[in-house]
Amino acid sequence: FTGLSEKIDPEEVYSIMDQIYEILIHKVHDYEGTVNEMTGDGIMALFGAPIALEDAPQRAIRSAYAIHREITRFNDKITQERGGLPTLKMRIGIHTGPVVVGTLGNDLRVEFKAVGDTVNLASRMENLAEPGATYVSEETFKLSEGLFRYESLGEKKINGKQEPVKTYRVIGPSTRRTRFDVSAERGLTPFVGKERELELLLDGFERAKQGRGQAFSIMAEAGVGKSRLLYEFRKVVSNEDITFLEGKCLSYSRGVAYYPIIDLLKSNFDIRESDEDSQIRDKVKRGLRQLDVDEAFTLPCLLELLSVKDSGIDQIALTPEARKNRMMEAMKRIPIKGSEIRPLIMAIEDLHWIDKSSEEVLKYLLESISGARILLIFSYRPEFVHTWGRKSYHNQVNLNRLSNHESLIMVSHLLGTENIARELEELILEKAEGVPFFIEEFL
Ligand SMILES: Nc1ncnc2c1ncn2[C@@H]1O[C@H](COP(=O)(O)OP(=O)(O)OP(=O)(O)O)[C@@H](O)[C@H]1O
Ligand SMILES: [Mg+2]
Repeated sequence: FTGLSEKIDPEEVYSIMDQIYEILIHKVHDYEGTVNEMTGDGIMALFGAPIALEDAPQRAIRSAYAIHREITRFNDKITQERGGLPTLKMRIGIHTGPVVVGTLGNDLRVEFKAVGDTVNLASRMENLAEPGATYVSEETFKLSEGLFRYESLGEKKINGKQEPVKTYRVIGPSTRRTRFDVSAERGLTPFVGKERELELLLDGFERAKQGRGQAFSIMAEAGVGKSRLLYEFRKVVSNEDITFLEGKCLSYSRGVAYYPIIDLLKSNFDIRESDEDSQIRDKVKRGLRQLDVDEAFTLPCLLELLSVKDSGIDQIALTPEARKNRMMEAMKRIPIKGSEIRPLIMAIEDLHWIDKSSEEVLKYLLESISGARILLIFSYRPEFVHTWGRKSYHNQVNLNRLSNHESLIMVSHLLGTENIARELEELILEKAEGVPFFIEEFL
C-alpha cells in the first residue's frame, strides 16, 4: 500500500484498503478459516485452529487462490472506475504445523493469538513471495501434493533459521480434488475383500438396467474404502453402454448451494474449468436438445447453477419458493430423460458434507427413479443420517473395517513380501485397526 498512498489522497486509500480487507476476510471465511490478526497491510489467518478442520492445508491454499483472483477482479473494477492506479497484488505465505492458541482480553471480545515457529515460518514464506504469488513450506507442500501444481524453488535461507528451508510456489489447482484421486493416479494397493459389497452394487445395476431404478447408500468411517469401492465398481462397468456421472461434496463446500449437483451437471455437459460463458451456454443447449428436454423450462435453471451471466432466470417472475421447485424439477427431468437414452449411474460421494439444497434435490430425485433405468449411489461417513426413509428400491450398505487376515494381505502387497516379522505384523494390526487408509499411511 505504500506505493499507493503516495499517489492518491488518504481518504481514497482508506476506502480501497477497506475493500481489500473485505475481500481477504471473505475469502478466508469461505474456506472456514479464521482471521486472527490484522496487520498494517494484510492479515494473518488460521485454518484448522482453534477448531480442527479436515483438509486445513488445502483450504488455506484454495483461499489464497481465491484471494489472488478476487484482487485481480478488484483491480479491473478500479481501473474501469477511475484508472491511473498501480495494480494491487498480495503476497501470500503458508506453512503447516502446530500453533498455540490462547485467548486475550476479557470474555466479551474473544481474541486469540497464535505464536511460535509455525506462525513465524508462514510469515517468512510471505516475505519471500513476490506480489501476486503464494509460497508454501515443505510441510504444506507434502500435505497437499497432487491436489495442486507446484514449482519447486529449492532451498531458501531464512532469518532466524539455521537450516535453509525448502520452498514451493503454487501454480494452480490440479484436476484431482481428493486424496483418493491422488492415490489412484500414483497407483493403488490391490483391492482386498469387499467382494460381497461389489456384488451388491452389480446386482443393483442389473435391476436398474431393466428399468427398476435402484439407490444405494454406502456408509463407512473415514478411510475404510467408500471411494475405493466406487472406483472398483466403475472399473467393472466401464465397458457398458451407460452414462456414469460423479458428483462430490467437499469438506469446504457445505456453504455452497447445490455444490455436488453442479458437479454432476458439469460432468454431464462436459463443462471445463476454462470454458467461457458462451461455450457453457452452447454445451448445455446442445445437451438439452439431445435429451429432448424442454429448453425454455430448464435452460435458465441450469445456466444459473453454472454461474453463467444472464442466465435468464430473472426474466421469469418467480417467488423464491417457486424458483427452488423449478430447480428441483429441472434436476429431475434431466436424469430421467437421459436414462431413456441409456442407463444412468449417478454417484454422489461424501454426503456428510452436503449442503441443504442439494440434499433436497437428491431426495426428490430418489422419489422418482423407481421406474427408470437409474442407479443412484451415495456414500458418506456415519455422522450423516439420511432421511430417504424405507423404499423397496433403496439398499443400505455398511462397509466394515478389514479383518486381520485382509489387513495382512494388504501389508504383504505394500511391502512386496510375505515374510513379515511377527512383531511388525502385530504392530500394524494394532495401529491400523483394519482401516485401509491407516495401513497405507503406516507403511
Ligand atoms: N478393500 C481395499 N483393498 C485395498 N485397498 C483399499 C481397500 N479399501 C480402501 N483401500 C485404500 O485405502 C485408502 C482409503 O480408502 P478410501 O479413500 O476409499 O476411503 P474412504 O472411505 O473413501 O475415506 P473418506 O471418508 O476419507 O473419503 C485408499 O488408498 C484405498 O485405495
Ligand atoms: Mg472417499
